[in-house]
Amino acid sequence: MTTHPLPRPGLRDHVRLFRRITHEPEPVLEELRERFGSVCQIGAGPARGAVVGSATAVGELLKRPVEDFRWGHKFNVLGFIVGQGSMIVSDGADHRRRRGAVQPAFGRRRLQGWIPMIVERTDAAIANLDDGTDDLYPFGRDLVFDVAVRAFFGEALADHIPELSRRFETSQAYLESSALRQIPHPFPFTARARVRADRAAIDRLLDGEIRRLRADASAEEEPGDVLGTLVRDGSLSDDEIRDQVVTLIGAGYHTTAASLAWTLTRALLEPGTWGALRSEADEVLGEADPTAFDADSLARLDLADRVVREALRLHPAGVVSPRESAVDMEIAGHTIPAKTLVLWSPHLAGRDPDVWPDPLRFDPDRWRSPNEDQRRAGDAAWVPFGRPPRNCIGFAFAHMELVFILARLAQRLDVTLVRADVPRPYGMVVNRPDGGVPVTVRARR
Ligand code: HEM
Repeated sequence: MTTHPLPRPGLRDHVRLFRRITHEPEPVLEELRERFGSVCQIGAGPARGAVVGSATAVGELLKRPVEDFRWGHKFNVLGFIVGQGSMIVSDGADHRRRRGAVQPAFGRRRLQGWIPMIVERTDAAIANLDDGTDDLYPFGRDLVFDVAVRAFFGEALADHIPELSRRFETSQAYLESSALRQIPHPFPFTARARVRADRAAIDRLLDGEIRRLRADASAEEEPGDVLGTLVRDGSLSDDEIRDQVVTLIGAGYHTTAASLAWTLTRALLEPGTWGALRSEADEVLGEADPTAFDADSLARLDLADRVVREALRLHPAGVVSPRESAVDMEIAGHTIPAKTLVLWSPHLAGRDPDVWPDPLRFDPDRWRSPNEDQRRAGDAAWVPFGRPPRNCIGFAFAHMELVFILARLAQRLDVTLVRADVPRPYGMVVNRPDGGVPVTVRARR
C-alpha cells in the first residue's frame, strides 16, 4: 500500500489555529478533520504533532502494539505534578509493574464495595443543598472529590478533604495555564513553586498514612481502599505508591466531575429524561438503605447507564489524548513518523458521521439493543476511556459513580436547567461545560 506524508495547514493558518486551540480545542479539531481528513500534522520539526480524528483512524492507532508508543516523552508535563514514578508517564516494564500493582485495587469486588458509600455521600451532598438557584458543577466536583478520597484512602483522610481538594486545585490550575508558565524553572514564589509546595504537603499526609498502614499490616482484613491495597501488596516503593495515588486523584477527579456536569446538562435538556430517570431510580433504589445497593442495582439502572454513555460519547473529558510515536507508523494511508506527538481524539471519534447516525443528536436510545454491526461500530468509536492496555484504569469506577450519582439526584431533586441550549465546551486539559450547570433546584416534593 502506498502511504503519503501527513497533510497540514499552512503557516498563517497555524498561527490562527494555535491561538484558538488552547481555549477552545473542539472547533479547531473539527476544522482540521473537515479540511484534512482522518490524520493531519500540526507544528513542525521536533515540535510536530499528528491529530488522529476519524473513528477508523483512531481504531487503527489504538490497535497497534503498546511498544510503538511512549508516554515518558519530552512533551509530557504531567511528571512534574504526579511524579516521575507515576504509571501515566512510564513505559515498558516499569509501566506494567506500576499499573499491575494498582489494577487489583479496582477489581470487581472492590468496586461493588464502594457502591453504598457513593450513594451515602450523594445523599449527604443533597442534604447540604438549599432550595433555589445553584450551579451543579461545583456541587458535583466536591462530591466526586469526596468519593475519590474515601475510595482511595478509606475514612482515614476524610477530615483532610477540604485541604486535599485545595492542594489538588493548584496543580489543575497550573496544567490549564499557558505553556510559557509551565517551562521548568526552580524560582520560588511562582505558580510552579506553589505546585511543588502543595505536592510536598500531600506527600507528608500520605507518608503518615502509609506509616500507619504498615504498623497495622498484620490486620487480617483485606483493605477496602486503594492505598491500603498498595501498601499490603508490597511491590512498589513508598515514592511509587505516593505517585500512583496522586495520579489516580489527578487523572480521576476533574475528568469525572466534568463528565457529571455534561451528563446532568444533557439529561436536563432532553424533555422527559429527568422524569424517566426518576421512575427508574424509584423502581431500582426505592426507599432502601444505601447499604442494600450492589452490582445488581447497577445492572438495573439501564437508562442512567445509557444517558452516561451518550454524554461521554459527545463530551469526553479528554478532547485529545497524547502519546509519542516510537516508530514510523501508517495510519489511514498516511505515515506518522517516529517521535511525533500523536493526539488522538475521543471527541472526533465520538462524533464521526461514518459511524454514528445523526451524530450530534443526544439519543440514549442508540445504546438500547443495538444490532451486531451497530455494537461493533459503537465499540470501536466510543473511546472516552481509550483502549487497553493503556486505557483508563478508573473507567469502571468512574462509570459506576456517574450512574449512581445521576440516578440518586434524579430521584431526590426537582431540577430545571437555567439555559435552553447546549453550552460551549471549555478547557484544553479537561472539557467541561462553559458556565457550569446553572439550575433551579429543590428537594423533591
Ligand atoms: C469519566 C471520567 C474519566 C475519563 C473520561 C477518563 C479518560 C481517560 C483517558 C482517555 C485515558 C488515556 C487513555 C490513553 O491514553 O490511551 C485515561 C487514562 C488514565 N486514567 Fe482516566 N478517565 C476518567 C476517570 C478516571 C478515574 C476515576 C481514575 C482513577 C481512579 C482515572 C485514572 C486514570 C489513569 C491512572 C490513567 C493512565 C493509565 C495508564 O497510563 O496506564 N481516570 N483516562
